[in-house]
Amino acid sequence: MTTPASAAGRFTFPGTDLSVNRMGYGAMQLAGPHVFGPPKNPDEARAVLREALELGIDHIDTSDFYGPHVTNELIRETLHPYAGDLVLVTKIGAWRDEQGGWNLRRDEAFLRQSVEDNLNRLGLDRLAIVNLRMEGLHDDIAAPMRVMRAMRDEGLIAHIGISNVGADQVAVAREIASIVCVQNHYNLAHRADDALIDQLAEDGIAYVPFFPLGGFSALQSTELTAVAEDAGASAQQVTLAWLLARSPNILVIPGTSSRSHLRENVAAADLVFTSAQAARLGAIGQAGDM
Ligand SMILES: NC(=O)c1ccc[n+]([C@@H]2O[C@H](COP(=O)([O-])OP(=O)(O)OC[C@H]3O[C@@H](n4cnc5c(N)ncnc54)[C@H](OP(=O)(O)O)[C@@H]3O)[C@@H](O)[C@H]2O)c1
Repeated sequence: MTTPASAAGRFTFPGTDLSVNRMGYGAMQLAGPHVFGPPKNPDEARAVLREALELGIDHIDTSDFYGPHVTNELIRETLHPYAGDLVLVTKIGAWRDEQGGWNLRRDEAFLRQSVEDNLNRLGLDRLAIVNLRMEGLHDDIAAPMRVMRAMRDEGLIAHIGISNVGADQVAVAREIASIVCVQNHYNLAHRADDALIDQLAEDGIAYVPFFPLGGFSALQSTELTAVAEDAGASAQQVTLAWLLARSPNILVIPGTSSRSHLRENVAAADLVFTSAQAARLGAIGQAGDM
């Protein structure tokens, strides 16, 4: 079926029969300020989730540590029982303290508890894809990956992803178990992963940039504004369409708490640049324009 979200095409995760529209949605912004506590407007948060599906989104990124628990609970109460084609991707490896602080942890007991929490709050028997969130490029990924593999073999997780990782960690992880996606910080201005994206593309592994729009501080650049005017689109739409054009293994999960922004972002799925516009955008990350 043709939907606004399907305009950028579909992606099948490697070695699986699981496929999603490349235009997805990140649910983190549905929690309260600083991703802590309940949403400012719970009705709007539920409406965003419903409209995301109406627009054809079939890939929602979440975690039990958003809120904590808030986004998973909203997803369950709004969308359960889930449409057969909806892929909920979650992540583990962190927890929130009572002040809203972010704490990272990856021992076996914690990872197992985190999977149980995601299963219970999302109302699922098995999680489609779970990202193991690492802390830094030099962390040992082997031990937590063995736990991920065990949970996959036990049927708690269908597929494994990894997050906040470098190429060396990707290589170590893949020796332990197959991975279907990598979720790292990447956007028009933050391009440290250019080589990694191309390497993953060769093996058909999805690359899912977080902070696609700049996250907590929106991307700003005179060149981006100029190209957006030229293309008759918003800067956010140009930013997302640039990611979709950057490589066929990129899936986008822009976050928003508003339906108007959701509609605007999804409409970027069919935005195509002229070669001159593409060249100007490609130069932004290198020019230090942001
Ligand atoms: N693996 C990790 O460590 C990690 C880390 C961070 C995030 N993530 C995932 O990545 C997803 C995306 O990242 P993100 O939400 O942090 O950042 P983002 O998508 O780069 O940006 C979200 C921000 O942009 C605003 N926005 C969205 N659409 C807009 C539009 N059309 N016009 C103007 N402003 C707009 C949102 O505000 P409004 O709510 O007002 O629209 C929000 O402030 C998250 O939802 C989460 O699932 C993963």
